[in-house]
Amino acid sequence: MSGLEEKIFREYMAFFEKAERERRWNLFQDIPWERANKEASEELALCAETFCSVEMYLPDYVANGINLVRSYFGQAWFQANWAYEESKHSLTLMQYLLRSGKRTEEQLTDLQHQIFAKQWNLPFHTPRQMTFYGCVQEMATFVIYVKHRERAAAENDECLRTIYDYIARDEIAHCRFYQSVIKVLLEEDREGTLADMAHVFANFEMPGVGIVPDYDSRILKMREAGIDRNVFIQKVYMPILKYLGVGRHEMLAAQRAAIDLRRSGERRRDTSIEGLAGAPNVTDAPQALSA
Ligand SMILES: [Fe+2]
Ligand SMILES: [Fe+2]
Repeated sequence: MSGLEEKIFREYMAFFEKAERERRWNLFQDIPWERANKEASEELALCAETFCSVEMYLPDYVANGINLVRSYFGQAWFQANWAYEESKHSLTLMQYLLRSGKRTEEQLTDLQHQIFAKQWNLPFHTPRQMTFYGCVQEMATFVIYVKHRERAAAENDECLRTIYDYIARDEIAHCRFYQSVIKVLLEEDREGTLADMAHVFANFEMPGVGIVPDYDSRILKMREAGIDRNVFIQKVYMPILKYLGVGRHEMLAAQRAAIDLRRSGERRRDTSIEGLAGAPNVTDAPQALSA
């Protein structure tokens, strides 16, 4: 194991230990199913169904994600544990839709067929870029679930509130693991990692876009369901930079450097991150600061 891989493996063990000790929850025992509010609004159900749909692309997330990092122990084992935790998210939301009477078995089977007719592909192609993508995506998902936890509470749906609470805790834990890996990568190669971060920020898109059936019309109907640019900057972008100890100006400089590199048509080979990544190609790097 290289020094870098060893550090990442240690981060994984710390993550896993904490997950086993503090964060496990049980779909069959820990959710107050009887407290689902059958009178809650259709909008609340539509939101749950949409989140469930995004979570249902799990086979693609797992297959693509784990293959990208299969030779890096800490990262690969994280993907396996991550898959187990994420599998509970779609299952639990599906159970909620059924048990609350908001959807029938038939409707959900139909939705599953539509979902599996499309495939999710990796938005970025190096482990380092995907690690940072995971970090941003998990944080954004966390912010969304926290928001919807409050909405479920406002509609007196204690069951859905509890579900969102457990899921949000998982999502922020995933984000923290990715952040800890990025910290290690920044120590190894600050410039290269910053360039990848700038690239991912500039091209970030949530995983459901373009594949979840009727995604655009769902978003239109789901009042305040997502997060707009301001919320993204305040609750996702800035906290991540702060946690990583990266100043906004440093990030902007990385972005300018990446754009300059692209302009001069240079390709940079990055060997300092050892086995973790194929060389990030910054020739197609960032064009704007935020998603
Ligand atoms: Fe999830
Ligand atoms: Fe997650």
